[in-house]
Amino acid sequence: MPITFDAQSRTFHLHNDQASYLLRVLENGTLGHLYYGGPLAQAGSYGRLSGREFLGFSNRLGEPVALEYPTAGIGDYRVPALVVEQPDGSTALDPRFVSHRVFAGKPAIPGLPSTYVQDYVEAETLEILLVDTPANLEVRLFFTIYSDRPVVTRSARLRNVGSAPLKVECAMSATLDLPDAEWELVHLSGAWARERHVRTRRLEVGSQAIGSLRGASGHQHNPFLLLKRASTTEESGEAYGLSLVYSGNFLAEAEVDPFETTRLRIGINPEGFSWSLESGAEFCTPEAILAYSEAGLGALSDAYHGLYRDRLARGVWRDAPRPIVINNWEATYFDFDEARLLEIATAAQGLGIEMFVLDDGWFGRRDNDNSSLGDWTADRAKLPSGIEGFGRQIEALGLRFGIWIEPEMVSQRSQLYADHADWAIGVPSRPHTEGRNQLVLDMSRHEVVDHLFGVLSDLLGRAPISYVKWDMNRNITEPFSPSLPAHRQGEFFHRYVLGLYELYERLTRAFPQVLFESCAGGGGRFDPGMLPFAPQAWTSDNTDAVERLRIQWGTSLCYPVSAMAAHVSAVPNHQTGRMTPLATRAAVAFFGVLGYELDPGALNDVERQEVADQIAYYKARRELFLHGRLVRLRSPFAGDGNETAWMTVSPDSRRAVVGHYRVLNRPNRGPSRLRLRGLDPRAPYRVSVWPVGEDPVSTANTGIRGGDELMRVGLLVASEDPVESRSVGDFTARLFDLEAQEAPRRRGRA
Ligand code: GLA
Repeated sequence: MPITFDAQSRTFHLHNDQASYLLRVLENGTLGHLYYGGPLAQAGSYGRLSGREFLGFSNRLGEPVALEYPTAGIGDYRVPALVVEQPDGSTALDPRFVSHRVFAGKPAIPGLPSTYVQDYVEAETLEILLVDTPANLEVRLFFTIYSDRPVVTRSARLRNVGSAPLKVECAMSATLDLPDAEWELVHLSGAWARERHVRTRRLEVGSQAIGSLRGASGHQHNPFLLLKRASTTEESGEAYGLSLVYSGNFLAEAEVDPFETTRLRIGINPEGFSWSLESGAEFCTPEAILAYSEAGLGALSDAYHGLYRDRLARGVWRDAPRPIVINNWEATYFDFDEARLLEIATAAQGLGIEMFVLDDGWFGRRDNDNSSLGDWTADRAKLPSGIEGFGRQIEALGLRFGIWIEPEMVSQRSQLYADHADWAIGVPSRPHTEGRNQLVLDMSRHEVVDHLFGVLSDLLGRAPISYVKWDMNRNITEPFSPSLPAHRQGEFFHRYVLGLYELYERLTRAFPQVLFESCAGGGGRFDPGMLPFAPQAWTSDNTDAVERLRIQWGTSLCYPVSAMAAHVSAVPNHQTGRMTPLATRAAVAFFGVLGYELDPGALNDVERQEVADQIAYYKARRELFLHGRLVRLRSPFAGDGNETAWMTVSPDSRRAVVGHYRVLNRPNRGPSRLRLRGLDPRAPYRVSVWPVGEDPVSTANTGIRGGDELMRVGLLVASEDPVESRSVGDFTARLFDLEAQEAPRRRGRA
C-alpha cells in the first residue's frame, strides 16, 4: 500500500521505493507538511517531524510550521495557497481537517486535463477534506502517488456549502514547504525563437516568481520550476520539480522567509483572477506535478518524461510511431498553388517522408496574415478541388495529409468577423489591440466552442486529414466577455482555457485517429496541459540547428523528446541567417519528432541523397529517439556553450545513439573525450559513427567498445590531429550509434 495512515499521530505517508511524502493533521486540525524527499521507512510515526500545532505568527516567532495548503489572514505571512473573500468581505480563512479517504487509482479533474492511470493498481490517492466553518467552505485536497515514480500529483477542489456566494481570489494547485533555502532556482524562460532557455539563480530571501498573464502559458516562461543544490549535477544530488498541467495564466513562485525556509507554489496566476463560487458550486484547480530526485537532474527529468509521455499524453498517438512530415511553410509561405504543393509533396515522398502538412494560407483569401482566420474553407483559387480533393491527391502520392489551423483566432477581414464581430475578445468601449493583424475568439462562450467544433468536425469528417497543426499566434488583450456579469470578469481567462480544453476534448474524441500538434507562434504554449490532446508540439519557430540545441536542451528538463517536433530547414536559416551543414540540422532534429520544412525541389542531388539517408536512419531508430531515455551529457548552457551532447538509450540499455555538437571549431585544441552514461558496463557495444567518414575521430571510435570503457573513458570527440581540426569547420555534429553485441564479455562485475 503506497499510502499509510498512523492514526495516533494522524500522519499520512505516501511512499514507494523512490520517494516519501509525509503530512500530518496538527493538533488544532490544520494540515501540516512534514516531508517530501527520498524514501523513509514505513515503520513508526513521523509525527515528531512537526513539533507543534500551527499557532499563527509562526514565521514571526521563528520555527515556521510547514503547511500543506496555507491560507491568508491567520498569521502565516508567507504567500498563501488559498484566498477566499467571504460574504462580509473578509478573507481570513482557517480550514481544519474533517476526514480523509484513501483509494486505488486516480480521479480525473472535471473540465481539466490531468495525469491518469491505466490500471487502478498503478497509483493510490489520498483525499483530505478540510472545512472552514465560518466561511462554509469545503476544501478537498488530492494527493496521488504512483507505485513506481518519484512524483506526487496534487490538486484542490473548493465547494461552497453555504447559501451566500464566495469569491475565490487565489487557489493554487500546490504549495511545498521546504526546511531550508540552500537552493538554486532553475526555470525555463525566453521569448519567441528562443524559448525555454535554462535560467539558474540562487534563492534569496524574498519572493522570486515567473508566470504568465497572456492567456497562454507563453514563450516567456514555462509553467515549471525546479530547485537544485549548488552541487547537483545531471547525475547526482537533490532536486525538486514543480510542473503545472495548465495552458493559461500561471504563477510559479519560490519564497524564502527570514528564517531561511522555502515555500514553493504553483497554480493559476491570482493576478486578474477571481471566481464566484455560488451556493453548492465547486471549483477545481489544475493539477500540479511534484517530482523529487536524489540522483540529479537526469533522474528528475526521467520522472517527468515517463509520466508525461505515458500517463499524460493519451490516445493512439501516444505510443504510435509519429510520421515524418514535410511542412510547406518555409518553402512557400503564403505563395503557393496546387501544382507547387504537389511538386513539393512528390519530391518529399521520394525521399521517404510520410506526411504532407499544408501550413497557413490555404483557406479564405489568405495571401498574407491580414485576413481570413475564421473562414476554414479552402481558397479555390489556390486549391481548385478544395481541401478534400487536394488531400486525396496527396494520399494518391502515398503520403498522409495534414493541415494547419488557428481555430481560436479571427481576422477582421473575414466572413466570421462580419457575422460575429462580438465573438472577438475586447472591451466594447475600447479599441481592440491587434496582434499579427488578428483578434482572439472568446473561447469562454459556449456558442463559440460549439461553432468551432461544428466547423472543424465538418472539415475533419469531409477531408482525408490525419494530422492537425493547431496554432495560436497572439496573446489576449482587453480581456472581457460580454457573456459574463461584471462580478465574474475575473473568471474570463480561466474560462477561456476551459473552453479551449473542451473544444480539444470534443475533437480528439470525435477524431481519435487524427494526430494533433500544438503550436503558438512556435513554442508559446508548450505546456503539460496540451499533451493529453496534442502529444507533440511545435517546439519553436527557430529551426536553426545551433539555436535548437539550447531550446531542446531546456525543454528536455521537463518534457519528453516525443513532445518536441523538430524540423530540418533550409539555409541560410530563416530565423538567424546561419549556414549550418545539412547533417548537423538533422542530427539535432533527430532528438525530436523529425520533420522537414524546406523545398526538397531546391536540393541538389547530393543533398537529396543525404536527406533520404537521414530519413532512413531516423526510421530505423524512431522508437529509440522517441521513447528511449534521454541522457543529457554536455550542456549548451555550461561554460562557453560551445559543445552540446546528449544520448538516447533503450530501456534495456542495448541500443543508444549519442549526439555530439560543436558550434565553433577551435584550432589546435587537443583530444577530447565524452563519457557516456546509462549503458550496461558489462556489454560490448558495436560503435558506428554518423555521418560515415574516414576522419580520425570516426576511425578512433568505430568498432567494439565495452560499456565500461564508453562510460569511464568515453568516446573521442576531438582528435589531437591538427589536420582533422583544420578540416572540420564550424557547426559540426556527429552521432554515435551503439548496439550491444550478443556475447557478453566474460569478466568480473564492473
Ligand atoms: C506560426 C507558426 C509557424 C507557421 C506560421 C503560419 O508562426 O509557429 O510554424 O505555422 O504561424 O502563419
